[in-house]
Amino acid sequence: MQGLLLNMTRHAAIVGTGSFLPENTLTNEDLERMVDTSDEWIVSRTGIKERRLAEMHHGTSDLAVRAGERAMACAGVAPNEIDLLVVGTSTPDHLFPSTACITQEKLGLTCPAYDVNAACTGFIYALHAGTVAIESGRFDTVLVIGADALTRHIDFTDRATCVLFGDGAGAVVLKASDEAGVMAIELGSDGSGADLLLVPAGGSAAPCTEERIRNHDHYLHMNGNEVYKFAVRVIPKATITALEATGNSVGDLAWLIPHQANKRIIDTIEERLGIADERVYSNVVNTGNTSAGSIPLGLDDLYTSGRLRPGDLIGLVGFGAGLTWGAITIRWTMALPNKGDQ
Ligand code: ACO
Repeated sequence: MQGLLLNMTRHAAIVGTGSFLPENTLTNEDLERMVDTSDEWIVSRTGIKERRLAEMHHGTSDLAVRAGERAMACAGVAPNEIDLLVVGTSTPDHLFPSTACITQEKLGLTCPAYDVNAACTGFIYALHAGTVAIESGRFDTVLVIGADALTRHIDFTDRATCVLFGDGAGAVVLKASDEAGVMAIELGSDGSGADLLLVPAGGSAAPCTEERIRNHDHYLHMNGNEVYKFAVRVIPKATITALEATGNSVGDLAWLIPHQANKRIIDTIEERLGIADERVYSNVVNTGNTSAGSIPLGLDDLYTSGRLRPGDLIGLVGFGAGLTWGAITIRWTMALPNKGDQ
């Protein structure tokens, strides 16, 4: 049973958080000047008002580095104390080397480093990798980063997709602990939905050619309606499974941090789970969908603003291309941040 991690004596606990959003802001009003859309349409269908764009000379690793630096500073760990780096991303700097290797070098780490690609579920999958690495006893201190610069792969002439996405990154430092920490993880994949959300060209199956570029096949393509239905079906189920594995239920959650794709999806999840809006984190209005960055950005915002208390039960839940999904239940162990840090 994949959800159960409870009978172990060695656990992973979050001891530091960090995040980074680029400064460049693209508002709905900016988009109105680029494609046939309106602020009213975007807000009513998605809840998004603005999103951030990475600097043109930056790659995903630059976002990952800033979030990683902040998480390490928050945890008070030096680069030589990190013994594994896992980066969740589907927008790597290059096909290879991995973004994790580039990030490792920029952060001054010397540990093994690898990428995990689960699209918008990337942070959940990466946190799973970091958690089991610690539970196995092979690693003690793991830096887990979720980072994406998805706007690099967006067709800014396609109004159906260009209004949805933004760039960003978030990170956590995990340490071995006697207490969970990360209590339960539920993951899922369904490759039969691979064509619902993909970048058709640029990989080994369809390398970029002039014709494919003319057809805009090197950009993200999405069947929005089907992805929407998938999201509202799997998210409540995964959240409940990861909670039940710990003997808890939705009523025990202090916070649910869902992937920030669309406020309508988040509202539907709230309704289906019967959880109050005040206990469900959302920043999609200002960030858009930052893919693997979205959940750790939320976690860092809640922690640094003093809204997470030791002992709080927290649910993280994401979905994305693949199709992939995943939910994680965490018992929060960090003390409130110092007032000066908030
Ligand atoms: N501005 C104005 N009109 C638009 C826009 C726009 N930006 N985009 C689409 N429209 C039009 C369409 O052309 C269509 O017009 P028509 O009726 O004349 O054909 C109409 O609006 C309705 O289009 P729908 O696609 O049916 O709109 P819907 O209400 O389904 O909303 C949306 C679309 C917001 C994309 C929704 O389907 C959705 O949120 N889906 C989930 C997407 C998602 O979460 N993706 C992230 C996955 S995570 C990852 O791994 C990347």
